[in-house]
Amino acid sequence: MASAVESDWVNPLRDSRDKRLPRIAGPCSLVIFGVTGDLARRKLMPAVYDLANRGLLPPSFALVGFARRDWDNEDFGQVVHDAVRQHARTPFREEVWERLAEGFRFVQGSFDDDAAFDHLVATLTELDEQRGTDGNHAFYLSIPPKAFPTVCGQLRRSGLSHQADNRWRRVVIEKPFGHDLDSARELNTIVNSVFPEDSVFRIDHYLGKETVQNILALRFANQLFDTLWSSHYIDHVQITMAEDIGLGGRAGYYDGIGAARDVIQNHLLQLLALVAMEEPVSFEPRELQAEKIKVLSATRNILPLSENTARGQYGPGWQGSQQVPGLVDEEGFADSTTETYAAIAVEVNSRRWAGVPFYLRTGKRLGRRVTEIALVYKKAPHLPFDATMTEELGENALVIRVQPDEGITLRFGSKVPGSGMQVRDVNMDFSYGQSFTESSPEAYERLILDVLLGEPSLFPVSAEVELSWKILDPVLEEWAASGKPDTYESGKWGPQSADEMMARTGRAWRRP
Ligand code: BG6
Repeated sequence: MASAVESDWVNPLRDSRDKRLPRIAGPCSLVIFGVTGDLARRKLMPAVYDLANRGLLPPSFALVGFARRDWDNEDFGQVVHDAVRQHARTPFREEVWERLAEGFRFVQGSFDDDAAFDHLVATLTELDEQRGTDGNHAFYLSIPPKAFPTVCGQLRRSGLSHQADNRWRRVVIEKPFGHDLDSARELNTIVNSVFPEDSVFRIDHYLGKETVQNILALRFANQLFDTLWSSHYIDHVQITMAEDIGLGGRAGYYDGIGAARDVIQNHLLQLLALVAMEEPVSFEPRELQAEKIKVLSATRNILPLSENTARGQYGPGWQGSQQVPGLVDEEGFADSTTETYAAIAVEVNSRRWAGVPFYLRTGKRLGRRVTEIALVYKKAPHLPFDATMTEELGENALVIRVQPDEGITLRFGSKVPGSGMQVRDVNMDFSYGQSFTESSPEAYERLILDVLLGEPSLFPVSAEVELSWKILDPVLEEWAASGKPDTYESGKWGPQSADEMMARTGRAWRRP
């Protein structure tokens, strides 16, 4: 056991590669199951093209689609072409496209069809020989979790999951990783029975966002913030992921899942882990994961759950100038009791965070699309001003603007110019757009490249997934036992119960 740990461990002092330089993937293929789905078209295919356009894929790269659709390689190529034209981030360049398209293959079949997987084996073998993919293959399961066991079983049966010394096999899985702790454990057992944990890449696309990775730079590359990063100064933390879109067309995935499972279990608890974790020994994956796991293990719901959580479902309303229907009037959601808004309050039982509530909220059809992390500071213990002078002074806050308008805001009080003393909130801003000329890659670009490079830092391991469910399960049980969610008007900021949850502690949600 000890020797396995030692052999896996990369000594950061000995790893002499220049980590500032972008790394280019080696010879390999990416096989996408569920290639006819929305995610594949909107995110995965464009990301593959963008990587090729940035010169980060090798000439011997292949993209293989697997689906039931009656397509040939050309049909598949056309679908990728349309997706790239519509959704790619970087400009379309004919020469890049043509080189990439030479490596497109399509395999038709259903997941329980042995012959289709045998055809996939033949296709990959041919690619290895003719295009030089060298036996290195990543299998992206962009499919409902209930199909994971069948596909994993087929990958084992056909020998595709088998790695030899000089070639790798990896599996990429999309959330939801189960719907509670038990099902997540079951899923992890199934996946791990075919692929060892270090070949499993679980996508949480928030970790692929530049602004999210910047949390580590902000916290651990600067002296300025560390001293202010604890319960000594912070009153509470608010993590918000608000969306203005509704759920029309997504009933198949979302109904019965809801906002908490869709977003809090993964994206928001990962953000919490990055904000609350201690400094890792190094940025090696294992060290980062250890710190995140420590935080998630120390995270507890604030009780009672009935007073410290809130959920709601959007009713009709106005989104800007557009009148929009409520959830139950969207296709596939008639009589749905699924929540489209969820808020929970947790605390992290550690010396640094004792007594600091972390409020996590997410919702569809809210006032606007914004994701931010706000560290809200305690009031100064003493204000040597007349009360009227600080009437317009709020709480100091450090706000990490994850999206859109990516950047960081520091809010503090400043004297209003004039002969009197009047203190008012002002903002000091860092914005990516103004400070950098490079535009940020899409999260999926970064994550797909990391899969092909075998860089696991940005992928939650099974322990993180299970700990997150452990936090969420009691909330879901409480909600299941307490009837339907509240409703809120589309275009507003969630149900009244969410405001009341904060008001009970004398706090209020920020209006981003
Ligand atoms: C996904 C959720 O993980 O994130 C969706 O399943 C949500 O419901 C999406 O719309 C939002 O992603 P982003 O990157 O636009 O914030």
